[in-house]
Amino acid sequence: MDLFEYQARDLFAKHGVPVLDGDVIETAADAAAIAERFGGRAVVKAQVKVGGRGKAGGVKLASDPQDVVAKAEAILGMDIKGHTVHKVMLAQTADIQEEYYVSFLLDRTNRTFLAMASVEGGVEIEVVAEENPDALAKIPVDANEGVTAEKAAEIVAAAKFPAEIADQVADVLQKLWVVFVKEDALLVEVNPLIKSGDGKIIALDGKVSLDENAEFRQPDHEALEDKAAANPLEAAAKAKGLNYVKLDGQVGIIGNGAGLVMSTLDVVAYAGENHGGVKPANFLDIGGGASAEVMANGLEIILGDTDVKSVFVNVFGGITACDAVANGIVQALALLEGKGEAVTKPLVVRLDGNNAELGRQILTDANHPLVEQVDTMDGAADRAAELANK
Ligand SMILES: Nc1ncnc2c1ncn2[C@@H]1O[C@H](COP(=O)(O)OP(=O)(O)OP(=O)(O)O)[C@@H](O)[C@H]1O
Ligand SMILES: [Mg+2]
Repeated sequence: MDLFEYQARDLFAKHGVPVLDGDVIETAADAAAIAERFGGRAVVKAQVKVGGRGKAGGVKLASDPQDVVAKAEAILGMDIKGHTVHKVMLAQTADIQEEYYVSFLLDRTNRTFLAMASVEGGVEIEVVAEENPDALAKIPVDANEGVTAEKAAEIVAAAKFPAEIADQVADVLQKLWVVFVKEDALLVEVNPLIKSGDGKIIALDGKVSLDENAEFRQPDHEALEDKAAANPLEAAAKAKGLNYVKLDGQVGIIGNGAGLVMSTLDVVAYAGENHGGVKPANFLDIGGGASAEVMANGLEIILGDTDVKSVFVNVFGGITACDAVANGIVQALALLEGKGEAVTKPLVVRLDGNNAELGRQILTDANHPLVEQVDTMDGAADRAAELANK
């Protein structure tokens, strides 16, 4: 989960990383009082989860409270690379002497963590990395050792930070590492980290991405979610504990096991080429123990998607055998109908694996008018695509 800059700033402050005073608003009129608090001047910064805000006109310096309100008004509602600005952060103005770059990230390729640092920070670190790669130091960080004083000094030396600020930068690096570890982040980036007129090192802009797999031990992180931007179907699926991702096609997909669902997406997309280009509408893995309730929850989400024209239920019976899944489907349909959510879209079911014959018999006996069975995965994908194209 990517955070907004103001949320990153809050996490920095929580762990002692030096930041400037700041406040976030959604209404330009609220800007005046905050600007007064900062002594009149403020930097107005668009809060969007996309880079290059400054270049797009989303970061503006304002010289008095009236100007702050006017700039906030201009930036709120602005479109930056397809992201509408709903919030702006007002920050104290900094007297910038130098702009640097520092970050910690998960380096998947090398199976370690990585520190990156450069004294050529500012707006586009990607350009520095491309045109002058020697100016961007990359130092692996061992997960067990972390960023000790020695490791911080190593990063500082590799990036050639000037001697007079070396200790301060090393201290900030250690605190940023605490943010990275304590908050279960995948990325903590500061660009720019600045040296101010009075020689202080301050994080002026922050980008933090949190590891959603660690949510179970980070109860505070739920409050950081951008609920307004979340897809309503995904939010509903999450509330039901389902592994669901909304896609933009027309064939709803339910399967057991992430690998099977992934290949189901492929075969449906392939079959769709013969049926008007229909595509999978979602990813939904109901996992191993597909109870009637989980099946009902899954069907409810998928049938609630107005883009869905047909549903493909693709199950390979394992420990949970096909007869249990078939009973789950029959009960799920009854559950939904009982709730007044009558199933109106065709369902193509393919059962294979453990107790497939018995499972198929259960569905045949139930004789639901909208449920069709096809014995092979390719055949079922083709039929589901055909039905979605009708
Ligand atoms: N509080 C501030 N005081 C003075 N100047 C600032 C302040 N905040 C930002 N700036 C200036 O604006 C530039 C761009 O700001 P910032 O890094 O926050 O946005 P950005 O880099 O354009 O956005 P992104 O990081 O999304 O690409 C900074 O490099 C800095 O020169
Ligand atoms: Mg920046």
